[in-house]
Amino acid sequence: MGGKAARACGKQAPMAKIDLQPPRGTRDFYPEDMRVRSWLFDLFRQVARLYAFEEVDAPIVEHAELFIRKAGEEIVEQLYHFTLHDRHLALRSEMTPSIARMVMARAGGLRLPLRWFAITQNWRYERTTRGRRREHYQWNMDIWGERGVGAEAELISAITLALERLGLGPADVKIRVNSRALLEETLREGILRNRPEAFEPLCVAIDKLSKIGPEAVCELLCNPAGAVRLAPGEARNVVELLGARSLEEAAAGAPPGSQALEELRQLFQLLEEYGCREWVVFDASVVRGLAYYTGIVFEAYDTQGKLRAICGGGRYDRLLESMGGAAIPAVGFGFGDAVILELLADRGLLPARPRDLHGVVFAFGDAERPAAIALAKRLRRAGHSIELVLGHGKLRRVLQDADRAGAERVYLIGPDEAARGEVKVRNLRTGEEETLPL
Ligand code: HAM
Repeated sequence: MGGKAARACGKQAPMAKIDLQPPRGTRDFYPEDMRVRSWLFDLFRQVARLYAFEEVDAPIVEHAELFIRKAGEEIVEQLYHFTLHDRHLALRSEMTPSIARMVMARAGGLRLPLRWFAITQNWRYERTTRGRRREHYQWNMDIWGERGVGAEAELISAITLALERLGLGPADVKIRVNSRALLEETLREGILRNRPEAFEPLCVAIDKLSKIGPEAVCELLCNPAGAVRLAPGEARNVVELLGARSLEEAAAGAPPGSQALEELRQLFQLLEEYGCREWVVFDASVVRGLAYYTGIVFEAYDTQGKLRAICGGGRYDRLLESMGGAAIPAVGFGFGDAVILELLADRGLLPARPRDLHGVVFAFGDAERPAAIALAKRLRRAGHSIELVLGHGKLRRVLQDADRAGAERVYLIGPDEAARGEVKVRNLRTGEEETLPL
């Protein structure tokens, strides 16, 4: 019926056919998906608790300006943002700027160093690939107010504990560590001597190395309309610097007395003491694609090289200042849910997560219902997950459904049981039946 005709009959025009899939790159979480998600998040929470981190959260709709930076980062181009009643708002693309806002709002009143963690849904209008989505959840752990690399060591060791608890080892995942400060020291003495502002966009460009290759990175670095504008020889030198795969190689290219190199050495020594040195490798090509990092940076990858980064983070000592706040050093990481779930599925490490259903209580008729309700109430108070059959089911169907739902027991109350003040309990695992007083 057309719109006009529908209105004439006093009916609503039919809606256009609804697409039953969620928007591209996003997910629905049905109960079986939620069980896996909750299992993963519980594990993140347990590890954060073991490291004495406190959980925080912030609104998913934020001030858009919090996320808009000018270094040419993909994350800014991918922002879901809109103007509503003259307010420019955005769906959060990452948690770090909100954490910075929260720290700034209470600066002075916070006991430093503080350890906060969060598990948040983030939105980025990405080109979707395996493990890369337009919404993803991220477990963040951040330490604010600690300058020393002890903070990095705590975080990296927490990541390895989480990976271990997920059933992975250093043969499955490696955490690649580098220092942006090391690159900065080298470039500041050389090609960026008079242009320190070009360093952030330079890092954003070279972060694309594994994705687009050295030639394309050199083109980006030399683009006369870009923010970096190197000469071709300079760009090649920069790409060469990214080739170091050991601290010794990095040392050979570092300026004498390099502070950044010393910090890297300290960090690797600390990780030895934490017993997680085996998980980490030095890799000069890791610079991270976000502009705000200033020091040590790291990313974890599956060793088979099939997937994108499992997690990533680093030191961002100047973020708060860049937002107009105090100079408080900070370091943290974000660990996504999507890539790790792909990896665990590949390795057969996703645990079966059955429904946690203890039993089903079934009254044969209305007369037995009060006894069934009272029984369900007692079992629930005792901590059991109980499904009380609503309405009037058929016994055979109730038993079938209970079995399919994974219930351990069915509590049956018919007229005879009710009259005797009893309940028949059938154990669906063993098939045994017993009669117990109500
Ligand atoms: P990031 O590298 O953009 O860092 O994201 C961290 C992790 O989130 C990635 O390694 C990946 O596991 C996951 N992730 C990111 N984008 C997607 C996506 N489109 N689909 C699926 N998973 C994704 C940050 O966001 C920083 N704020 C992390 C941080 C916290 N740095 C310091 N503190």
